[in-house]
Amino acid sequence: MPDQRLTRHLLSDRIFHWITAASVLALLATSLLPIMGVQFSWIAVHWIAGIVLTAVILFHIVRATFWQELRSMWVSAYDIKVALTSLNPVGPTKLKPGKYSFAQKFIHLGFTIFTFVAIGTGLVMMVKIDTPFWTRDPYWLESATWGWVYVAHGVSTLAFVTMVMLHIYFALRPEKLLYTRSMIKGWITYDEYRQHHDSARWKIPSAGESSKH
Ligand code: HEM
Ligand code: HEM
Repeated sequence: MPDQRLTRHLLSDRIFHWITAASVLALLATSLLPIMGVQFSWIAVHWIAGIVLTAVILFHIVRATFWQELRSMWVSAYDIKVALTSLNPVGPTKLKPGKYSFAQKFIHLGFTIFTFVAIGTGLVMMVKIDTPFWTRDPYWLESATWGWVYVAHGVSTLAFVTMVMLHIYFALRPEKLLYTRSMIKGWITYDEYRQHHDSARWKIPSAGESSKH
């Protein structure tokens, strides 16, 4: 059945994605708007969004390791070959990716690296602010070490701005809207699957068979 629906993202993964998106956008807005001159008390919203992001990322890592297919996000030599052959419009065969394309895996890697940098440095910076749980201690690290922590946090912010812009741009392009729908509603059609994916690399279980999602 060409318009039969196949699950691409389970509800728990979609909820994870949208909480991640909301917390990252909140982190960027609360940190960058004051620099652009929009003044408001941003620190509490910023660190709470950072804690939410940390919690959902931990959930995602556990789920990806034990319930999902780690290999589906691993950049392989085949993915690079698919990406290169797709640049050649008159190439002999059109190779198709598995569940995720090279570009998607690459930006996932970027998000992973810079999320770790942002969360790691952000948690250390929490020592410098008053929270309901402790009072600030600005002398916990040497001032030069604090400097590096701030540089790393700032570099991850810059990387996030670039990655989020690219990511949203591609998500909204007409030929990628099927994936945006799948991140909202969960499914793509069997026809879309056949057209865009290599069924040997992204295996869809036949009815009744159980699978890792
Ligand atoms: C060590 C860290 C991480 C590991 C091992 C990991 C692993 C994975 C894997 C294996 C998938 C594919 C799941 C599937 O479709 O079968 C995936 C999807 C995804 N990852 Fe990660 N990831 C990590 C970090 C991150 C970070 C930091 C973010 C966000 C900033 C993120 C966001 C996503 C999203 C939105 C998806 C698609 C939703 C889904 O279907 O699960 N991941 N990840
Ligand atoms: C608000 C606008 C956003 C839209 C419309 C959007 C849309 C999407 C779509 C369509 C996918 C691909 C799902 C698939 O392959 O089936 C995806 C995956 C993913 N999203 Fe987002 N997203 C948004 C914000 C964010 C933000 C702010 C982050 C930052 C952490 C993020 C992190 C990810 C990651 C890491 C993946 C997995 C890699 C990939 O498939 O590209 N998303 N998102």
